[in-house]
Amino acid sequence: MKVFDVAVVGATGLVGRKMIQVLEERKFPVGKLRPLATARSVGKTVEFNGKRIHVEELTQNSFQGIEIALFSAGASVSKEFAPHAVNAGALVIDNSSAFRMVDGIPLVVPEVNAKEIFHHKGIIANPNCSTIQMCVALKPLHDKWKIRRVVVSTYQSVTGAGQKGVNQLYAEIEEEDSYEKKFPHPIAYNVLPHIDVFADDGYTREEHKMVFETKKIFGDETIKISPTCVRVPAVGGHSESVNVEFEKHFELEEVFETLHHAPGVIVQDDLKQNIYPMPIWAHEKDDVFVGRIRRDESTKNGLNLWVVSDNLRKGAATNAVQIAEVWITHK
Ligand SMILES: NC(=O)c1ccc[n+]([C@@H]2O[C@H](COP(=O)([O-])OP(=O)(O)OC[C@H]3O[C@@H](n4cnc5c(N)ncnc54)[C@H](OP(=O)(O)O)[C@@H]3O)[C@@H](O)[C@H]2O)c1
Repeated sequence: MKVFDVAVVGATGLVGRKMIQVLEERKFPVGKLRPLATARSVGKTVEFNGKRIHVEELTQNSFQGIEIALFSAGASVSKEFAPHAVNAGALVIDNSSAFRMVDGIPLVVPEVNAKEIFHHKGIIANPNCSTIQMCVALKPLHDKWKIRRVVVSTYQSVTGAGQKGVNQLYAEIEEEDSYEKKFPHPIAYNVLPHIDVFADDGYTREEHKMVFETKKIFGDETIKISPTCVRVPAVGGHSESVNVEFEKHFELEEVFETLHHAPGVIVQDDLKQNIYPMPIWAHEKDDVFVGRIRRDESTKNGLNLWVVSDNLRKGAATNAVQIAEVWITHK
């Protein structure tokens, strides 16, 4: 069987470590694995298929012989180093925001627009985590009833802010005196309506990502999206309250039926048993969980959903590895 030499850029981070775990779990045909990070991480090792592999410092020459480079070290690192990986002949699957909105670079959620994978010119972008889970849940509904407008409020895990975000939550819970602050306010026992930086229009960049990335992934500029992105002291995944207005009339049973058969979706909606999606259940799973499915009686063709997924897996690592899987299958 053909195997592929794979580099993971940001291999010591939350997403990079998860990528290595997911490559192993899904038995991706990896020949050599090259974990890359900063000089600070040289001397560390990662475990892959029972072996300990030394982390190397990322340089322009890190990609010789690499066929697939999974990038997860932030946008500035991707902008600087992805072109070197492409020049060395690698397919780059980039988890940062660097290339998502660049014309000609596919932005892919395999359940939604896998065919875009074959239009790449060396780089494929992995969407933002909160966008991915919303798109997986909404695409099958959009295909049937055409979405006119979405109002989404997110409840995002601290893992979405990387290792430093997790560290701040635990340090505050443990009442440690000194720790590096990732968020501008305490996150333990608190809620912050602020993810990424504020833009001039009063929205955050995370909220902009949900609007523009969804339109690009769906290939539909007409969908109206109104997001509010919120950081909460959860760790297992992101949750989203999603209010949708469709153009066409739907029956609620048809929505349940459609979501039951949707790729990557699991319906968790048994109110008598208090069953609905939660981060503690979504944690370490690859699916997007949908529940609290109910008609919005305040508007025509309105629907409410509660959507939860593990942002480090389907929102990042798993989605990237799925893209690589589709690419190698058709290569
Ligand atoms: N967390 C999520 O849910 C999520 C979801 C989707 C996308 N993303 C994106 O994924 C990326 C990483 O997120 P994360 O949560 O894994 O962050 P993280 O835990 O802070 O990890 C960052 C990683 O990047 C490496 N790195 C930083 N600067 C570098 C440089 N100049 N050269 C080489 N390596 C460098 C770090 O290496 P050292 O350990 O050596 O410092 C570390 O391995 C970000 O672009 C983020 O926006 C994250």
